[in-house]
Amino acid sequence: MTEVERLFRRRFGHPSILTVRAPGRLELLGNHTDYNQGLVLSLAIDREVHMAVAPRKDGRIEIISSAFPEAESFSAHEITRNAAARWADYVKGVLVELRRRKVHFTGFSAAIHSTIPLGAGLSSSAALEVAAALAVRSLYPYSLQLAGLGEPPQRKKDGSLPRMTPAEKLEVARVCQAAESGYVGVHCGLLDQISSLFGRAFHAMELDCQSLTVEHVPMAGEIAIVVCNTGVKHALVGGEYNELREQCEGAARALGARSLRSVDLPLLNAERARLTPRQYQCAHHIVGEIQRVIFGARALREGDFAQFGQYMFQSHESSRHSFKNSCEELDLLVDLARAHPGCLGARLSGGGFGGATINLVARDQIEPFSRTIAAQYQEATGIPLTPLLCQIVDGAQ
Ligand code: GLA
Repeated sequence: MTEVERLFRRRFGHPSILTVRAPGRLELLGNHTDYNQGLVLSLAIDREVHMAVAPRKDGRIEIISSAFPEAESFSAHEITRNAAARWADYVKGVLVELRRRKVHFTGFSAAIHSTIPLGAGLSSSAALEVAAALAVRSLYPYSLQLAGLGEPPQRKKDGSLPRMTPAEKLEVARVCQAAESGYVGVHCGLLDQISSLFGRAFHAMELDCQSLTVEHVPMAGEIAIVVCNTGVKHALVGGEYNELREQCEGAARALGARSLRSVDLPLLNAERARLTPRQYQCAHHIVGEIQRVIFGARALREGDFAQFGQYMFQSHESSRHSFKNSCEELDLLVDLARAHPGCLGARLSGGGFGGATINLVARDQIEPFSRTIAAQYQEATGIPLTPLLCQIVDGAQ
């Protein structure tokens, strides 16, 4: 029995009928480009949310999580917030959005167990949202299409459902994004949710946020992905993030562009006078990041990890000096990583203001790299650090 199945049985006194999983993600290159209709490279990783479920007859939804002491129980027809169980908002937000799209569901019991560290910028929240959407689908099959609700999928003989099409997955990602934006208040892009759904083992995803298409680029070789969590989170929920988004969108508007995707560096510099200094800095970061993703994807396709690592370092410098979504601890981790001969590239991953760095490390250097950086970081900050070696996995099905 898995951890989450045990949790379920202990709470509800009977076994669950199935378990869904949704992985966390790492932003490999392309920072804050998603809501600017830009390009981004990401990975789904082997740190996941597991959700074990079974239907109920009393019309209630009861959810528990191994990470929080308080269970949450509410009527499937009256989904309201509870300040004492904020963690449940991610699930409730998804239920509200599914209902808005006329997906039918009634009661169920669910147990949640996650191996994604919270607050590290690995998208534990998006993984929880995706797991919630898939858990509902597994109990009350639905098919979301761009045009609305499609015919529900038919169960196979063994009771399982056919896999979602890419178009269905994209709609699930939108439902989860709407939950995060409408219910939790972070006006995020689609990066986290798409990455959790579209990941492929041993591949990076190259996501085009304008056409909403995903290409898979092989990412295997003598390299490893190591995550270093600063252990700090400086931002208030959503505040700084939403403000950066406004700066970027304000810059695009001032330039008469639909988004920063259609702005290049020569245009940005020629039109600089139309922007506030802060808008210029933000736009400079985004335009540069989109370029770096184009070059980075090319380097990956050529298997040139040394070159790719350089783009990662450049990306971090741009976050640090232009976009200003880094912090002392992230800068320190990147500086320590750069000084280690086994590290090819390092940068902050995700929203910023704390959270984690992603490090591209030569495979035979994983151990010395991790040991050295942990000792140096702890000595400088007093904060313990346990670097995480991450494998690239398939997305949620
Ligand atoms: C967070 C958001 C994403 C994306 C990244 C930055 O993870 O949820 O949508 O904007 O920050 O790239």
